[in-house]
Amino acid sequence: MTPTAPDSEFLRDVVAGLSEMPKSLPCKYFYDEAGSRLFDRICRLAEYYPTRCEMAILDRHAAAIMERVEPGSVLIEYGSGSSLKTRRLLDRRRCAAYVPVDISREHLEKSARALGHDYPEVEVLPLVADFTEPLTLPRSRHDGAPRVVYFSGSTISNFGPPEAVRLLRRIATVVGPGGGLIIAVDLKKDRALLEPAYDDALGVTAEFNLNLLRRINRELGGDFVPERFRHRAVWNEDHGRIEMYLDSPSAQLVHLDGRTFTLSAGEAICTEYSYKFSRADFAGLADEAGLTVERVWTDDAGLFSVQYARAR
Ligand code: AVI
Repeated sequence: MTPTAPDSEFLRDVVAGLSEMPKSLPCKYFYDEAGSRLFDRICRLAEYYPTRCEMAILDRHAAAIMERVEPGSVLIEYGSGSSLKTRRLLDRRRCAAYVPVDISREHLEKSARALGHDYPEVEVLPLVADFTEPLTLPRSRHDGAPRVVYFSGSTISNFGPPEAVRLLRRIATVVGPGGGLIIAVDLKKDRALLEPAYDDALGVTAEFNLNLLRRINRELGGDFVPERFRHRAVWNEDHGRIEMYLDSPSAQLVHLDGRTFTLSAGEAICTEYSYKFSRADFAGLADEAGLTVERVWTDDAGLFSVQYARAR
Protein backbone atom coordinates (compact mmCIF):
# COMPACT_ATOMS: atom_id res chain seq x y z
CA MET A 1 0.00 0.00 0.00
CA THR A 2 1.49 3.36 -1.00
CA PRO A 3 1.45 5.98 1.77
CA THR A 4 -1.64 8.18 1.53
CA ALA A 5 -1.16 11.77 0.33
CA PRO A 6 -0.10 13.98 3.25
CA ASP A 7 -3.26 16.09 2.97
CA SER A 8 -5.66 13.11 2.86
CA GLU A 9 -8.93 13.15 4.78
CA PHE A 10 -7.81 9.96 6.56
CA LEU A 11 -4.67 11.67 7.89
CA ARG A 12 -6.58 14.82 8.88
CA ASP A 13 -9.22 12.77 10.75
CA VAL A 14 -6.60 10.66 12.57
CA VAL A 15 -4.52 13.69 13.60
CA ALA A 16 -7.67 15.51 14.77
CA GLY A 17 -8.86 12.49 16.77
CA LEU A 18 -5.51 11.91 18.48
CA SER A 19 -5.22 15.64 19.32
CA GLU A 20 -8.56 15.67 21.18
CA MET A 21 -9.06 14.90 24.83
CA PRO A 22 -10.34 12.18 25.18
CA LYS A 23 -8.70 10.68 22.09
CA SER A 24 -10.79 9.04 19.39
CA LEU A 25 -10.49 7.55 15.90
CA PRO A 26 -13.41 7.41 13.41
CA CYS A 27 -14.85 3.90 13.01
CA LYS A 28 -15.37 4.40 9.25
CA TYR A 29 -11.64 3.66 8.82
CA PHE A 30 -11.97 0.09 10.14
CA TYR A 31 -12.78 -1.20 6.67
CA ASP A 32 -9.58 -1.57 4.64
CA GLU A 33 -9.07 -4.97 3.02
CA ALA A 34 -7.87 -6.66 6.23
CA GLY A 35 -10.58 -4.90 8.29
CA SER A 36 -13.34 -5.96 5.88
CA ARG A 37 -12.13 -9.55 6.07
CA LEU A 38 -12.15 -9.39 9.89
CA PHE A 39 -15.64 -7.88 9.82
CA ASP A 40 -16.85 -10.80 7.68
CA ARG A 41 -15.48 -13.11 10.37
CA ILE A 42 -17.24 -11.10 13.11
CA CYS A 43 -20.52 -11.60 11.24
CA ARG A 44 -20.06 -15.38 11.56
CA LEU A 45 -19.17 -15.39 15.29
CA ALA A 46 -21.46 -17.17 17.74
CA GLU A 47 -21.56 -14.06 19.97
CA TYR A 48 -22.33 -11.58 17.17
CA TYR A 49 -26.12 -11.98 16.96
CA PRO A 50 -26.97 -9.10 14.49
CA THR A 51 -26.14 -10.81 11.18
CA ARG A 52 -27.79 -14.09 12.15
CA CYS A 53 -30.93 -12.35 13.41
CA GLU A 54 -31.21 -10.08 10.39
CA MET A 55 -30.94 -13.06 8.04
CA ALA A 56 -33.59 -14.94 10.05
CA ILE A 57 -35.94 -11.93 9.81
CA LEU A 58 -35.41 -11.67 6.05
CA ASP A 59 -35.86 -15.41 5.56
CA ARG A 60 -39.17 -15.33 7.37
CA HIS A 61 -40.57 -11.91 6.44
CA ALA A 62 -39.13 -10.88 3.06
CA ALA A 63 -42.54 -11.36 1.40
CA ALA A 64 -44.32 -9.18 3.98
CA ILE A 65 -41.58 -6.54 3.79
CA MET A 66 -41.75 -6.38 0.01
CA GLU A 67 -45.55 -6.27 0.01
CA ARG A 68 -45.12 -2.70 1.24
CA VAL A 69 -43.12 -1.90 -1.89
CA GLU A 70 -45.08 -0.93 -5.00
CA PRO A 71 -44.37 -3.20 -8.01
CA GLY A 72 -41.99 -1.46 -10.42
CA SER A 73 -40.12 0.43 -7.69
CA VAL A 74 -36.46 1.40 -7.72
CA LEU A 75 -34.57 -0.15 -4.79
CA ILE A 76 -31.52 1.87 -3.66
CA GLU A 77 -29.17 0.12 -1.26
CA TYR A 78 -26.87 2.14 1.00
CA GLY A 79 -23.58 0.30 1.64
CA SER A 80 -24.48 -2.66 -0.55
CA GLY A 81 -21.24 -4.70 -0.14
CA SER A 82 -21.88 -8.13 -1.61
CA SER A 83 -25.70 -7.54 -1.78
CA LEU A 84 -26.25 -10.91 -0.13
CA LYS A 85 -29.24 -9.84 1.97
CA THR A 86 -30.72 -7.89 -0.94
CA ARG A 87 -31.26 -11.09 -2.89
CA ARG A 88 -33.95 -12.04 -0.33
CA LEU A 89 -35.79 -8.83 -1.33
CA LEU A 90 -35.16 -8.99 -5.08
CA ASP A 91 -36.45 -12.57 -5.06
CA ARG A 92 -39.96 -11.15 -4.44
CA ARG A 93 -39.80 -9.70 -7.98
CA ARG A 94 -41.24 -6.27 -7.19
CA CYS A 95 -38.31 -4.07 -8.22
CA ALA A 96 -37.74 -2.73 -11.74
CA ALA A 97 -34.34 -1.28 -10.92
CA TYR A 98 -31.70 -1.73 -8.24
CA VAL A 99 -29.07 0.88 -7.38
CA PRO A 100 -26.38 -0.56 -5.10
CA VAL A 101 -24.37 2.29 -3.54
CA ASP A 102 -20.95 1.50 -2.12
CA ILE A 103 -17.62 3.24 -1.64
CA SER A 104 -15.64 0.23 -2.89
CA ARG A 105 -15.74 0.09 -6.72
CA GLU A 106 -14.29 -3.41 -6.86
CA HIS A 107 -16.88 -4.93 -4.50
CA LEU A 108 -19.67 -3.06 -6.24
CA GLU A 109 -18.87 -3.97 -9.81
CA LYS A 110 -18.39 -7.63 -9.00
CA SER A 111 -21.69 -8.01 -7.15
CA ALA A 112 -23.59 -5.83 -9.69
CA ARG A 113 -22.45 -8.13 -12.50
CA ALA A 114 -23.61 -11.22 -10.61
CA LEU A 115 -27.00 -9.63 -9.78
CA GLY A 116 -27.51 -8.52 -13.39
CA HIS A 117 -27.00 -12.13 -14.40
CA ASP A 118 -29.29 -13.61 -11.73
CA TYR A 119 -32.08 -10.99 -12.06
CA PRO A 120 -32.16 -10.19 -15.80
CA GLU A 121 -35.49 -8.34 -15.50
CA VAL A 122 -34.00 -5.82 -13.02
CA GLU A 123 -32.03 -2.81 -14.29
CA VAL A 124 -28.89 -2.84 -12.09
CA LEU A 125 -27.20 0.57 -11.82
CA PRO A 126 -24.19 0.49 -9.46
CA LEU A 127 -23.14 3.81 -7.95
CA VAL A 128 -19.70 4.33 -6.40
CA ALA A 129 -20.37 6.93 -3.70
CA ASP A 130 -20.22 7.76 -0.02
CA PHE A 131 -23.86 7.58 1.04
CA THR A 132 -23.29 10.03 3.91
CA GLU A 133 -22.82 12.72 1.22
CA PRO A 134 -25.62 13.95 -1.09
CA LEU A 135 -26.17 11.39 -3.89
CA THR A 136 -26.82 11.90 -7.59
CA LEU A 137 -28.60 8.75 -8.76
CA PRO A 138 -27.70 7.33 -12.19
CA ARG A 139 -30.23 7.90 -15.01
CA SER A 140 -32.57 4.94 -15.26
CA ARG A 141 -35.22 3.61 -17.62
CA HIS A 142 -37.42 3.79 -14.52
CA ASP A 143 -36.90 7.43 -13.53
CA GLY A 144 -40.14 8.57 -11.94
CA ALA A 145 -40.93 5.13 -10.44
CA PRO A 146 -41.48 4.95 -6.64
CA ARG A 147 -38.23 4.73 -4.68
CA VAL A 148 -37.27 2.66 -1.65
CA VAL A 149 -33.95 2.80 0.19
CA TYR A 150 -32.61 -0.38 1.78
CA PHE A 151 -30.12 0.17 4.62
CA SER A 152 -29.03 -3.14 6.14
CA GLY A 153 -26.66 -4.34 8.87
CA SER A 154 -27.85 -1.73 11.41
CA THR A 155 -25.11 0.53 10.08
CA ILE A 156 -27.29 3.35 11.45
CA SER A 157 -25.95 2.21 14.87
CA ASN A 158 -22.54 3.73 14.11
CA PHE A 159 -23.92 7.27 13.73
CA GLY A 160 -24.50 9.54 16.72
CA PRO A 161 -28.14 10.72 17.03
CA PRO A 162 -27.66 14.08 15.21
CA GLU A 163 -25.78 12.41 12.31
CA ALA A 164 -28.35 9.58 12.21
CA VAL A 165 -31.19 12.12 11.85
CA ARG A 166 -29.22 13.97 9.15
CA LEU A 167 -28.69 10.74 7.21
CA LEU A 168 -32.34 9.66 7.59
CA ARG A 169 -33.42 13.12 6.40
CA ARG A 170 -31.24 12.70 3.31
CA ILE A 171 -32.85 9.30 2.69
CA ALA A 172 -36.31 10.87 2.98
CA THR A 173 -35.25 13.42 0.33
CA VAL A 174 -33.85 10.73 -1.98
CA VAL A 175 -37.07 8.66 -1.91
CA GLY A 176 -39.42 11.67 -1.88
CA PRO A 177 -42.86 11.92 -0.19
CA GLY A 178 -44.50 8.48 -0.06
CA GLY A 179 -41.17 6.74 -0.75
CA GLY A 180 -39.99 3.96 1.57
CA LEU A 181 -37.10 2.93 3.77
CA ILE A 182 -36.34 -0.68 4.75
CA ILE A 183 -33.83 -0.44 7.56
CA ALA A 184 -32.16 -2.91 9.93
CA VAL A 185 -32.13 -1.57 13.48
CA ASP A 186 -30.35 -3.27 16.38
CA LEU A 187 -32.42 -3.31 19.58
CA LYS A 188 -31.57 -2.64 23.23
CA LYS A 189 -30.96 -5.76 25.27
CA ASP A 190 -29.13 -7.16 28.26
CA ARG A 191 -25.49 -6.23 28.84
CA ALA A 192 -24.75 -9.98 29.16
CA LEU A 193 -25.55 -10.42 25.45
CA LEU A 194 -24.24 -7.11 24.20
CA GLU A 195 -20.73 -7.03 25.60
CA PRO A 196 -19.61 -10.48 24.34
CA ALA A 197 -20.94 -9.55 20.87
CA TYR A 198 -18.25 -6.85 20.83
CA ASP A 199 -15.59 -8.76 22.77
CA ASP A 200 -15.72 -12.34 21.49
CA ALA A 201 -13.87 -15.30 22.95
CA LEU A 202 -11.77 -15.84 19.79
CA GLY A 203 -10.53 -12.24 19.85
CA VAL A 204 -11.70 -11.44 16.31
CA THR A 205 -13.27 -8.11 17.34
CA ALA A 206 -10.07 -7.25 19.22
CA GLU A 207 -8.09 -7.87 16.01
CA PHE A 208 -10.61 -5.79 14.05
CA ASN A 209 -10.13 -2.91 16.49
CA LEU A 210 -6.31 -3.21 16.54
CA ASN A 211 -6.22 -3.37 12.73
CA LEU A 212 -7.09 0.33 12.75
CA LEU A 213 -3.68 1.05 14.29
CA ARG A 214 -2.01 -1.27 11.77
CA ARG A 215 -3.80 0.55 8.95
CA ILE A 216 -2.58 3.93 10.26
CA ASN A 217 0.97 2.55 10.33
CA ARG A 218 0.68 1.08 6.81
CA GLU A 219 -1.05 3.94 5.07
CA LEU A 220 -0.01 7.01 7.05
CA GLY A 221 3.45 5.95 8.26
CA GLY A 222 2.52 5.94 11.98
CA ASP A 223 4.51 3.94 14.53
CA PHE A 224 1.78 2.48 16.77
CA VAL A 225 2.82 -0.75 18.48
CA PRO A 226 -0.51 -2.65 18.49
CA GLU A 227 0.78 -5.11 21.11
CA ARG A 228 0.90 -2.20 23.57
CA PHE A 229 -2.89 -1.67 23.32
CA ARG A 230 -5.84 -3.66 24.69
CA HIS A 231 -9.29 -3.95 23.13
CA ARG A 232 -12.22 -3.09 25.41
CA ALA A 233 -15.98 -3.01 24.76
CA VAL A 234 -18.51 -1.69 27.30
CA TRP A 235 -22.26 -1.13 27.28
CA ASN A 236 -23.04 2.45 28.29
CA GLU A 237 -26.60 2.20 29.59
CA ASP A 238 -27.10 5.97 29.91
CA HIS A 239 -26.27 6.62 26.27
CA GLY A 240 -27.71 3.33 24.95
CA ARG A 241 -24.53 2.37 23.14
CA ILE A 242 -21.66 -0.08 23.04
CA GLU A 243 -18.37 1.82 23.26
CA MET A 244 -15.18 0.29 21.88
CA TYR A 245 -11.79 1.45 23.05
CA LEU A 246 -8.11 0.74 22.58
CA ASP A 247 -6.59 1.07 26.04
CA SER A 248 -2.98 1.98 26.61
CA PRO A 249 -2.00 0.11 29.83
CA SER A 250 1.32 1.97 30.04
CA ALA A 251 2.54 5.43 29.03
CA GLN A 252 3.76 5.62 25.44
CA LEU A 253 4.50 7.95 22.54
CA VAL A 254 3.19 7.63 19.00
CA HIS A 255 4.66 9.47 16.03
CA LEU A 256 2.69 10.41 12.96
CA ASP A 257 3.15 13.05 10.25
CA GLY A 258 6.00 14.75 12.13
CA ARG A 259 3.92 15.01 15.32
CA THR A 260 4.23 13.21 18.65
CA PHE A 261 1.15 12.05 20.54
CA THR A 262 1.46 11.16 24.22
CA LEU A 263 -0.65 8.46 25.83
CA SER A 264 -0.58 8.26 29.60
CA ALA A 265 -0.87 4.94 31.50
CA GLY A 266 -4.54 3.88 31.45
CA GLU A 267 -5.52 6.35 28.70
CA ALA A 268 -8.04 5.08 26.14
CA ILE A 269 -8.65 5.83 22.45
CA CYS A 270 -12.36 5.57 21.61
CA THR A 271 -12.78 3.84 18.24
CA GLU A 272 -16.51 3.12 17.89
CA TYR A 273 -19.99 3.73 19.25
CA SER A 274 -22.69 1.23 18.32
CA TYR A 275 -26.09 2.59 19.36
CA LYS A 276 -28.94 0.23 20.24
CA PHE A 277 -32.55 1.35 20.04
CA SER A 278 -35.90 0.69 21.66
CA ARG A 279 -38.78 0.79 19.18
CA ALA A 280 -39.68 4.23 20.53
CA ASP A 281 -36.06 5.47 20.21
CA PHE A 282 -35.91 4.66 16.53
CA ALA A 283 -39.46 5.82 15.78
CA GLY A 284 -38.49 9.17 17.35
CA LEU A 285 -35.33 9.53 15.23
CA ALA A 286 -37.23 8.60 12.07
CA ASP A 287 -40.00 11.05 12.94
CA GLU A 288 -37.48 13.89 13.36
CA ALA A 289 -36.20 13.07 9.88
CA GLY A 290 -39.67 13.18 8.27
CA LEU A 291 -40.21 9.40 8.18
CA THR A 292 -43.01 7.42 9.81
CA VAL A 293 -42.27 3.85 10.92
CA GLU A 294 -45.15 1.68 9.68
CA ARG A 295 -44.02 -1.86 10.52
CA VAL A 296 -41.39 -3.57 12.65
CA TRP A 297 -40.32 -7.20 12.24
CA THR A 298 -38.09 -8.91 14.81
CA ASP A 299 -36.43 -12.29 15.27
CA ASP A 300 -38.03 -14.72 17.75
CA ALA A 301 -35.91 -13.52 20.67
CA GLY A 302 -36.56 -9.84 19.88
CA LEU A 303 -32.86 -9.00 19.63
CA PHE A 304 -32.90 -7.26 16.26
CA SER A 305 -35.37 -5.63 13.90
CA VAL A 306 -36.07 -4.74 10.29
CA GLN A 307 -38.37 -1.75 9.98
CA TYR A 308 -40.37 -0.16 7.18
CA ALA A 309 -40.72 3.62 7.26
CA ARG A 310 -42.40 5.96 4.79
CA ALA A 311 -41.32 9.50 3.94
CA ARG A 312 -43.98 12.14 4.66
C1 AVI B 1 -21.12 -2.17 11.02
N1 AVI B 1 -21.66 -2.05 12.39
C2 AVI B 1 -23.12 -2.04 12.38
C3 AVI B 1 -21.07 -3.00 13.34
C4 AVI B 1 -21.73 -2.82 14.73
O1 AVI B 1 -22.22 -3.82 15.25
O2 AVI B 1 -21.79 -1.71 15.23
C5 AVI B 1 -19.56 -2.79 13.47
C6 AVI B 1 -18.92 -3.67 14.50
N2 AVI B 1 -18.03 -3.28 15.38
C7 AVI B 1 -17.64 -4.30 16.11
N3 AVI B 1 -18.30 -5.35 15.73
C8 AVI B 1 -19.11 -5.00 14.71
